[in-house]
Formats: sequence, C-alpha cells, structure tokens
Amino acid sequence: MHLTPESREALERADEVLYLAADPLTAVWLGRLNPNSRSLHTFYAAGKDRKDTYDEMVEDILAAVRKGGRVCVALYGHPGVFVMPSHEAVRRARLEGLEARMLPAVSAEDCLFADLGVDPGRAGCQSYEATDFLIRPRKVETSACLILWQVGFLGMVDYSPDRADSRLPVLGDYLRQLYPADHPMTLYEASPHPLFEPVIRHLELSELAAAEPPAMTTLFVPPATVPQDDPEMMERLGLPAPSVSG
Ligand SMILES: C[S@@+](CC[C@H](N)C(=O)[O-])C[C@H]1O[C@@H](n2cnc3c(N)ncnc32)[C@H](O)[C@@H]1O
Repeated sequence: MHLTPESREALERADEVLYLAADPLTAVWLGRLNPNSRSLHTFYAAGKDRKDTYDEMVEDILAAVRKGGRVCVALYGHPGVFVMPSHEAVRRARLEGLEARMLPAVSAEDCLFADLGVDPGRAGCQSYEATDFLIRPRKVETSACLILWQVGFLGMVDYSPDRADSRLPVLGDYLRQLYPADHPMTLYEASPHPLFEPVIRHLELSELAAAEPPAMTTLFVPPATVPQDDPEMMERLGLPAPSVSG
C-alpha cells in the first residue's frame, strides 16, 4: 500500500470512507484512520454480473455524497486505473452539481516498473485488460513491452472467485502467434503491504497455459524484437545518421 499525504488527509478528514481494500490489513488500517469507514466489497456476490456490482457501488457512493458530508472513496492501486465505478461516480456526481475529485495514486503497473526494473520509456509500453486484448485484437508492437491486466479473470463477466477452469491456454495460443515459445515473461503480484515481498514468477510463453495466476496478478511480456531506425526521419529531425556496422 502506498499513500500520498494528500490522500491520507482526505481519508482522515472525510465524514465517511467507502473502500475496496486488497487485503484485510488495509481494511483494519483504514478503520483506525477513520472509524466511519465501510467496505464496498459487500456488493460482490458469486455469479453476479460485474457490471451490476459496479452500478450498485456507484449508486451507493452517490447516495452517500448526496447526504452532503465529505465522502472519500478509497480503492486499491490507482483509483482511476482499470476501475469503472470511480470514474463513473465522479462523472455522475459532477452532473448532479456535486463537487467530486479523483486523487492520483500508485497503480500495480507503477509497482511493476519498480519491482521488475522496467523503464517503459526505453522500448515503449502497451497496456491492456487481458480479455479486451483477446476479443478486440490490436496490432501488437513486439519491440515494446506488453502488460496484460486481469489475466486471472480471463473471459469473466461475473464475479467468480472460485472458478476452476482456466482460460490461460487461449491467451497462450494467441501470444504464440506473436512471440516464440521460449519468450520470457513474468506473472507479477505487487505486495499489498510493506511487510511482504512481491511475488515474481518468471516463465516462458510455453508455460503460460498451465500457470494459475491469482486474481491480483499482472502479466509482463518484455520486447522480443528491436525497432528499426528511420534514417529519413532522423535527418528531418536533424539527428545524426545511424551508424552502419558490419
Ligand atoms: C480492477 S483492476 C484494479 C487495478 C488497480 N486500480 C491499480 O491501479 O492497480 C485489478 C487488476 O489489477 C492488477 N492488480 C491489482 N493488484 C495487483 C497486485 N497487487 N499485483 C499485480 N497486479 C495487480 C491485476 O491485473 C488485477 O487483475
């Protein structure tokens, strides 16, 4: 858990805190920081469509805000990264003339860059929700990093924490069209708490199908190719011509 001073102040000053915590320790900590805190996790139910869950969360948040007090919604990671209810609650509150603001935070991807020693500026970086990546095929740039979120929820529209069958073989087959079977990749779990280490599992693409990633896992795929220089563009930008070796 990483908390900015700005977010901590918002939590402390709130009349009510609504939260989705990634681990029980964070829930306890939030309750101590602001005793008027309650979890939004109650809206999840096995087999329930996630869209219904999110709609109900948004309604609950707005109902609290309409009462007029200062409401702080705390969501794990960055509240605006791969999260629907936060953006929707801010949008609808503003439509109703209520004051709402999202504070930035540290996402799982930010932790990944730090823990795996990856600088997205070196090769570029593509970041997709894993199911979306499969059902709406994009042109994948193999010279850049690829980050796939929610690989533990592939093909799920409902909340099924105990689903037995894995859809990872489908992702493995798809990636196999782009990368060699022995291409390295990492299943990454950021630590939810400073006392614990991140879980970093290195594997090859051929091993992905059999992996069993927990819900809070993100897949990191490093570049497989090197982008080519464009001498004409370099000249137009006044850059020195690429050196020719051989
Ligand atoms: C609904 S998204 C929420 C992301 C969150 N807002 C953030 O900024 O990290 C859930 C997905 O985020 C990623 N995620 C969340 N917590 C993670 C963690 N501790 N380590 C790695 N990935 C995580 C996983 O891909 C997970 O399936």
